[in-house]
Amino acid sequence: MTAGAFLATAQRRVPWLAAPAIHDEVIGGLTASPKTLPPKLFYDRAGARLFEAICELPEYYLTRTELGILREHSTEIAGRLGGRVALIEYGSGAGVKVRLLLDALRDPAAYVPVDISAEQLAAVAAERAREYPALPVAPVCADYTTRFGLPAIPADARRVAFFPGSTIGNLHPTEATAFLRRIRATVGSSGALVLGVDRRKDVSVVEAAYNDAAGVTAAFNLNVLTRLNRELGATFDPSAFRHRAFFNEAASRIEMHLESTIEQCVRVGGIGVRFARGETIHTECSYKYDRAFLDDVVNAAGFRVADLWTDERDWFWVAYLVPG
Ligand code: TRP
Repeated sequence: MTAGAFLATAQRRVPWLAAPAIHDEVIGGLTASPKTLPPKLFYDRAGARLFEAICELPEYYLTRTELGILREHSTEIAGRLGGRVALIEYGSGAGVKVRLLLDALRDPAAYVPVDISAEQLAAVAAERAREYPALPVAPVCADYTTRFGLPAIPADARRVAFFPGSTIGNLHPTEATAFLRRIRATVGSSGALVLGVDRRKDVSVVEAAYNDAAGVTAAFNLNVLTRLNRELGATFDPSAFRHRAFFNEAASRIEMHLESTIEQCVRVGGIGVRFARGETIHTECSYKYDRAFLDDVVNAAGFRVADLWTDERDWFWVAYLVPG
């Protein structure tokens, strides 16, 4: 068992072990102005399940569109990647997308899923190992935005990172570049990155995707407060907050907030946090890219766009990035 996997297992059995890890970040965010919370808090067990439900929503075009591109172009993409690929997936989630690549690859050398959710990671790794008996599967339980160790990868393998879901959009451009630079170091000079990117498009389409009629995205956002109640003994009343998501044109991003519907004071990790009525906690951004924006972020990280595949509506990109 890796150190990360061990820690994750320990955290699952002994919940308070997880508390110090999030405590400082949470207090830091809630005492800042404007208030923020780190998006990784979304992905506890309930959050991971809600996120899967988001991916199925009629308004949430991203997953469906990216899957369509991968399905349509998997042979071509696999051709670019070549044989003996060690596929390192950043944020393996439910693992549906990677199957399209693994099926198309000739003689893949290894599959390394990296995910922060220990339960889901273990399940996904076991599933892939069952489906691809000849493929070494080496899961890594880690917050992939930090530095983490990789398991042994066959020396003859080409390291290819896979970062789908437009998760790159959840990082601010400078963070995105820093993150891609670490991936660039991980895959080396002969490696590559397959990146899923949501494109800038009509505002009404984008805003609907993050304000679904069934309220699943709202539940996903509000779940963060429930998690803080459970893990930090906070006293949030989720019904006194509401989900708000809107497109910020100047920054080319969807912003997700939790808005306090009343004036209130909430206890969190030993301190009192005051909210004015209408004040928000900024929980997440989802940047929407055009080509110039993509080139800026990617080139600054030491990659170049070698190929781009899109859908018939030009809503999403699957990009093939190589060092350069
Ligand atoms: N990266 C995807 C996106 O930006 C998925 C995602 C991350 C998401 N956090 C989210 C979707 C919060 C809805 C709400 O859309």
